[in-house]
Amino acid sequence: MGVEFGVLLSEIATSDTHGEDSPYFAGWKAYDADPYDAVSNPSGVIQMGLAENQVSFDLLENYLKQHPEISNWGSGISSFRENALFQDYHGLKTFRKAMASFMEQIRGGRAKFDPDRIVLTAGATAANELLTFILADPGDALLIPTPYYPGFDRDLRWRTGVNITPVHCNSSNGFQITVKALEEAYARAVAANIRVRGLLLTNPSNPLGTAITKSVLEEILDFAARKDIHLISDEIYSGSVFSSAQFVSMAEIVEARGYDNSDRVHIVYSLSKDLGLPGFRVGTIYSYNDRVVTTARRMSSFTLVSSQTQKMLASMLCDKEFTENYIKINRERLRKRYEHIIAGLKNAGIECLQGNAGLFAWMNLGPLLEEPKKEDELSFWNLMLHEVKLNISPGSSCHCSEAGWFRMCFANMSQHTLDIALRRIQVFIEKRNAIKGQYFL
Ligand SMILES: Cc1ncc(COP(=O)(O)O)c(C=O)c1O
Repeated sequence: MGVEFGVLLSEIATSDTHGEDSPYFAGWKAYDADPYDAVSNPSGVIQMGLAENQVSFDLLENYLKQHPEISNWGSGISSFRENALFQDYHGLKTFRKAMASFMEQIRGGRAKFDPDRIVLTAGATAANELLTFILADPGDALLIPTPYYPGFDRDLRWRTGVNITPVHCNSSNGFQITVKALEEAYARAVAANIRVRGLLLTNPSNPLGTAITKSVLEEILDFAARKDIHLISDEIYSGSVFSSAQFVSMAEIVEARGYDNSDRVHIVYSLSKDLGLPGFRVGTIYSYNDRVVTTARRMSSFTLVSSQTQKMLASMLCDKEFTENYIKINRERLRKRYEHIIAGLKNAGIECLQGNAGLFAWMNLGPLLEEPKKEDELSFWNLMLHEVKLNISPGSSCHCSEAGWFRMCFANMSQHTLDIALRRIQVFIEKRNAIKGQYFL
């Protein structure tokens, strides 16, 4: 807007790699304009495009009620001073320790994390961007298996000038990553004269809601070693796997291999999903590479976590009884929600990919499209948004290579609202089938 008419802005400011021109963000705006409310706006849009976890918020609130001292200034003015005065980019040791031990707990103690390798960032968004700045130069590429979290288009590309080369996965094998797909993507980048610097995995996957199997992780690490590239494992949903045994962290693979090739492996985590605290902006980079740790720490100056937040969460995460209970109950509640939504969609004749993690279902509305193409998927998305009044995310916004897949978030609302959303879908499908039936009579 300002480019043509006003004083000049930078290339970054005026580039369109911010990724916001996508139905993923357009859906959020449509929700903001007409948000559902059971009392004041019962026919409004239900927001099912936001991967936010509110199902265990009561546990956090109860903890705060029982421990009011962790969210106030405690011993008064001296504590206020401690929070307010200078914090260097290492962050608080107590908090890094607490984060490391929480990450171990989520992995059932099967992986170790050294607090001195934890670099704190303002969420996983900053962690992913920071790693991209460190591992690649403008014009280089990161390989990313599709479908992927739409925010990556902004986080990894916009300010860094780095490209994303998609690794196309498809429904024939449940969207699993294969060596063939990795090799194809790598070859495509090389043919286009683009240097590949790394591969970014999301495990468990957003939007698929599935954890990557151990054998696939082994193949991926072998691939990264063969190509001599970095491997980023975004494990932001690691604590949202319905059963701990179903998740294997890249940290486990690295440890089992005696840290061979570990200097190319970097793990990203955040408290936005598992603890449902996206507003607190707490993320971390865990790298096995000393130079990456040092550089990331320096760069984290741009994106620190406030001392007050670190102090409060350190107290909470150090309470093992609380965290154990929280992790267990949160997993159970997410699994129940997932099973409920899958059953509701099945009733409406909609099939989903079998998932075992996350805050969303990946559903196949392909059979409802006129033709299996992106334009039809987007028309259908529009219909869902403006007629059925549900904001779901079309697969094309996640770069899915097959039309007709949609992501539906289920943990950012009450069970009651979820049931209303399911009912709206059922009514919509029934109407559609009735019209089709008339047509064929
Ligand atoms: C895979 C993935 N990575 C990163 C993020 C960003 O998380 P944060 O809120 O910690 O910045 C998200 C948020 O949806 C995500 O799904």
